[in-house]
Amino acid sequence: MTDLPTFVNEPIGELRRATVRDELTRGMAKLERRLPIKVPVQIGDGERYGEELTSTDPGDPDRVVALSAKATAAEVDEAVRTAQAGFRKWSATPAAKRAEILVKAAAWMRERRAELAALEVRECGKPWGEADADVCEAIDFLEFYARGAVALDRGKALFQVPGERNEMHYAPRGVVAVIAPWNFPIAIPMGMTAAGLATGNAVVLKPAEQSPACGWIVVRALREAGVPPEAIALLPGEGETGAALVDHPGVHTIAFTGSGPVGLQIIRAAAEPGAHHLKRVVAEMGGKNCVIVDSDADLDDAVPGIVQSAFIYAGQKCSAASRVLVHDAIADALLERIAGAVDVLVVGQADTFGIDVPPVIEQDAQARVERYRKIARDTGRIAAEATDGLPNHGWFVAPTVAADLPPDSPVLNEEIFGPLLAVERVPSIDAAMDRVEQLDFALTGGLFCRNPHTVERVVRRTPVGNLYVNRPITGAMVGRQPFGGNRLSGTGTKAGGPDYLLHFVEPRVVTENTVRHGLVI
Ligand SMILES: NC(=O)c1ccc[n+]([C@@H]2O[C@H](COP(=O)([O-])OP(=O)(O)OC[C@H]3O[C@@H](n4cnc5c(N)ncnc54)[C@H](O)[C@@H]3O)[C@@H](O)[C@H]2O)c1
Repeated sequence: MTDLPTFVNEPIGELRRATVRDELTRGMAKLERRLPIKVPVQIGDGERYGEELTSTDPGDPDRVVALSAKATAAEVDEAVRTAQAGFRKWSATPAAKRAEILVKAAAWMRERRAELAALEVRECGKPWGEADADVCEAIDFLEFYARGAVALDRGKALFQVPGERNEMHYAPRGVVAVIAPWNFPIAIPMGMTAAGLATGNAVVLKPAEQSPACGWIVVRALREAGVPPEAIALLPGEGETGAALVDHPGVHTIAFTGSGPVGLQIIRAAAEPGAHHLKRVVAEMGGKNCVIVDSDADLDDAVPGIVQSAFIYAGQKCSAASRVLVHDAIADALLERIAGAVDVLVVGQADTFGIDVPPVIEQDAQARVERYRKIARDTGRIAAEATDGLPNHGWFVAPTVAADLPPDSPVLNEEIFGPLLAVERVPSIDAAMDRVEQLDFALTGGLFCRNPHTVERVVRRTPVGNLYVNRPITGAMVGRQPFGGNRLSGTGTKAGGPDYLLHFVEPRVVTENTVRHGLVI
């Protein structure tokens, strides 16, 4: 194939344009004719349909979006064994050919972009703008890793001396188990899967139980584009299916994105003896993301930036803002303005253009956020809550701002993953950084301030994987903001970054004595 053009991000749809909204609405109409979607277990050429898992619309839980088979323990074993055989064929496919197939999968998704976004709206309650951006991100991962894998295939130059030839190349590791969350229901499973396949591994994908139909899209796009069925399997299921995959001795790499407790369990389980190799774990986990606001911050930037970061997709992005640490000198002004902005947020169905806050993913999530809201009310103060017009059907939670909480409050220290933002006063930026320092998490962070020396100080001290200065803290773009956390937020592997693919390969060095001692004929 000819060289791929330079990578550029897929442009996100401009929803203010009627033509873009019309296209998405047509995508929804097309999707709705096919609901509920039947999702199979897919292993090699085999497919088994079933109705053991049901996914529903978070905004209208009576609407069934997908009926899915649930992989059994025997199917987990079969999928890994089939992938081991598929690995031999796929790893022997030249990197450029693999890249060509990934780029074709990106084209397959581009052609169906509106319908895929509609599926995310229905299955995960993602508002249109976010759903479209997620499909674009999945396309970006395919295009970006396709190029990265071709570059990686060239290996690295080594020091050479006369009479000796040294080569270093990167070989795929084997079978990758991809275990994905529901909150970026196509982009995240596609990102991890594309990285595994681009580098020549076979992949077994276990999508989140809340979004099996979105997971199936990932496998369909790749198979339609030409990935051999033995090299990519789909195992819909719950946690136990993921755990069985992690435990399987035939798995070499586990690419996991999800919550901290599950990530830690996977890291422990992966270290158990039983395989002929060390299982490598790429784990991207939760966060407790803080935004620091200094006394000189421009509140016209800070207020919309914070509100967007905390409440877009109902606070269900791993990067979402959850705590604001504001300098005493402007704390009252900031809190008053954030409260004013939150009071008027429009809560509504994800399929309605112009809403600000959709429902949360499921009933358990609604109950969890309500528990934290109660703690905030009982032990601190609710500074704002947008309860007007809250739909009473569906998993809606009122966007809430809490203040005056005790330092050891769970609201300040645990990941809530919902539309609840806590605001705290601090006497100085150093005091704010001390509080960030005390957290176990280090995923994203934000800073609003005008003084470049303060920016430099915070940059030097912050432990977070992604720090955003004077802008919202969500919306990382592939290739521009490699994404992922440190500490208990992740293994620091940076999805969409220049080094990500290295986690899916092993380096091999060949040294040859090139001084011939006679001829063999
Ligand atoms: N750091 C990041 O890049 C990032 C991105 C998105 C989401 N997240 C995090 O993901 C979480 C939300 O997603 P979620 O609710 O789907 O997370 P989750 O941990 O509940 O589930 C994630 C996946 O793990 C599977 N799983 C559950 N138990 C398992 C086990 N014992 N062994 C193997 N697999 C198991 C689930 O079935 C699902 O597929 C939040 O904590 C969020 O911060 C992090």
